[in-house]
Amino acid sequence: MPQDIKLLVTRQFPADVLARAGADYAATFNSKDTAWQGAELIAQAEGQDGIMCSSSNKFTPDVIAGLPDRVRILATFSVGFEHIDLNAAKARGIAVTNTPDVLSAATADIAFMLLLCASRRAGEADRMVRGGHWKGWTPTQLLGTGMQGKRLAILGMGGIGREVAARGRGFGMKIHYHNRSRLSLELEQGAVYHETAEDLLRVADFLSFNCPMSDDMKHFLNTRRIALLPDGAVVVNTARGGLVEDAALINALKSGKVSAAGLDVYEGEPNVNPAYWELDNAFLTPHIGSATVETRNAMGFRALDNLDAFFAGETPVDLL
Ligand code: DGY
Repeated sequence: MPQDIKLLVTRQFPADVLARAGADYAATFNSKDTAWQGAELIAQAEGQDGIMCSSSNKFTPDVIAGLPDRVRILATFSVGFEHIDLNAAKARGIAVTNTPDVLSAATADIAFMLLLCASRRAGEADRMVRGGHWKGWTPTQLLGTGMQGKRLAILGMGGIGREVAARGRGFGMKIHYHNRSRLSLELEQGAVYHETAEDLLRVADFLSFNCPMSDDMKHFLNTRRIALLPDGAVVVNTARGGLVEDAALINALKSGKVSAAGLDVYEGEPNVNPAYWELDNAFLTPHIGSATVETRNAMGFRALDNLDAFFAGETPVDLL
């Protein structure tokens, strides 16, 4: 890779990723690791040929319009790309790539951690012991909801959804799903396909969000759709916070319609609706779906592979 290609690296990605970016490109790093936005993001892009960014940098139509002509590619260190206005990028001839596949297993692990921790009341259990409130074993202490034999409803059966399904089978769950298109029998592995997301909700003893965020999916889980869930359903979200209407889910957690929720992503994060903090049946983590050393390295290398291909005149494998 010619060392004179200028690459803006917007976040402090893992050390091995930064080392490769620095070795292969004339890279500018963000030593403070602040999530540049708006005018600052545009200013940082001055003189750059490409940008390696994360989902914390919002490339709105205004930001994309303000980018210097020299910027020809945005390589995001994420599978999600709703933070980049693809139409605006296309209109300016800026290529956009993401990092699918490499984070599917790690994210499915966290989805399962949330399913277990929410349904088996891990947050309350930890707080009881840690707070010195445990008075000893009782037959009815911290009873949760079992997973064996229950229906696991997966909304979005891409790479992550299929990894969640594999874990569900291991826990003896029956897999149901909705996806834009039905999978092949080989990929379905016996999972039951539902033509509509609403039909899926009706069988969702456990509901896992594994679909991308889009305008038409905003606040998908609202009061009307929560009413379709079986009473006492468990809901987990490792996809994007905007898929859930917080007020509706909070009411459902209060009433018991939803018995527990495990959330790793939030609308407007890092701000979290404070009503969740008061709810013992909400298990909350800070967007750690892909947070393993192996996965974050793989994401960084995949983003760099895309950049390398682009600047070599080839089509990056993850061109959106
Ligand atoms: C992703 O890859 O989309 C993760 O949510 C991190 O942004």
